[in-house]
Amino acid sequence: MTILVTGAAGFIGSNFVLDWFSQSKEDVISLDLLTYAGNLENLSSLNGNPHHHFVQGNISDRDLVLNLLKKYQVRAIVNFAAESHVDRSIHESKDFIETNIVGTYNLLESARCYWNDLDKNLKQDFRFLHISSDEVYGSLDLTDPPSNESDPYKPNSSYSASKAASDHLVRAWFQTYKLPVFTVNSANNYGPYQFPEKLIPLCILNALHGKPLPIYGNGQQIRDWLYVKDHSAAIREILKQGQIGETYNVGGRNEKTNLAVAETLCNILDELKPKSNGKSYREQITFVKDRPGHDRRYAIDASKLEHELNWSPQETFETGLRKTVLWYLENVAWMDHVVTGEYQDWIQKQYP
Ligand code: NAD
Ligand code: DAU
Repeated sequence: MTILVTGAAGFIGSNFVLDWFSQSKEDVISLDLLTYAGNLENLSSLNGNPHHHFVQGNISDRDLVLNLLKKYQVRAIVNFAAESHVDRSIHESKDFIETNIVGTYNLLESARCYWNDLDKNLKQDFRFLHISSDEVYGSLDLTDPPSNESDPYKPNSSYSASKAASDHLVRAWFQTYKLPVFTVNSANNYGPYQFPEKLIPLCILNALHGKPLPIYGNGQQIRDWLYVKDHSAAIREILKQGQIGETYNVGGRNEKTNLAVAETLCNILDELKPKSNGKSYREQITFVKDRPGHDRRYAIDASKLEHELNWSPQETFETGLRKTVLWYLENVAWMDHVVTGEYQDWIQKQYP
């Protein structure tokens, strides 16, 4: 049997696939369109592994997906494929609607078509796990309790609205067709292989190049940070023993302001790679124009996952961030390869 992982050349997808092979010999089909965010270098350690098959393609391509499902007798789909960057959705939403909503719809239909024709036992074991975000719950005030699975959806960006729409489709395919689905709403992930458009890798890259660490507005917005390996462990557990049709929140219990994130990062860099002039990287922190509609706070209540499936995050923010910084320091070539071409165009546009 085999699992199909979509968006497998992106940040979380590639970490999940690498993590999967450290635990299992079960085959993985990695399907990825290889947009600007997809990077085959993330999966290069699997080159030559007969249990891994990479296919470049779109989750909306129903013929392709159905053929893969049948050819490899797929027993589970894990759907990471998405446009994932909020700032890009503010400039232009089209790809977010196409992939996150229409793409999820097409993937659900391919899965349903395949699942309908499966023998009884295979049908019973099949799972469709959809990866979503804490952003669908909208912005919290400082005194609000963390979001739980029964909170209403209140998305505020076209990114989060497109993720919310996809979650509703997944729910409807369970309610209407009984397709055996899970939805996983996760907090901000960080760790190796994250594209340096997102806060943490962008700050690491800029710090090392002597550039400003751009903090939007006053830096007091709060995110809940989850080390990517802890997310992979949660997904494996949900696939194994989750309740069909359920939603699971995954968070790290690590609420931090963006300014605190940048400062902690600078402290770690000061220790691991001190500047020759003796100054702190903190001096590079620069407040810039705020993100339009910037959500004040996200926080995730992951107690359902903790109590029902006995999952808990293994990393604190400090231990996870240290591992992350070390990874980037040891993988300068990876960073050098991703910051060419399209990346430079994006940086000019976003940080003029
Ligand atoms: P990413 O942008 O790093 O990777 C997305 C991957 O999807 C890329 O490899 C891209 O090539 C691929 N892709 C895009 N459109 C595709 C299509 N139509 N068909 C096939 N592949 C396509 O994103 P990420 O940060 O790894 O996020 C993965 C998932 O997790 C997304 O669904 C995102 O919404 C969700 N999520 C991310 C975070 C986070 O902090 N990064 C937190 C919560 C949820
Ligand atoms: O919360 C889950 C979400 O986390 C995921 O659904 C998204 O796919 C993922 O991109 C992430 O969204 P954010 O917008 O929270 O991530 P980002 O790294 O872009 O920003 C984190 C915070 O840092 C946010 O409050 C905006 C701020 N920020 C970001 C950038 C890129 C800055 O202050 N400066 C920056 O240059």
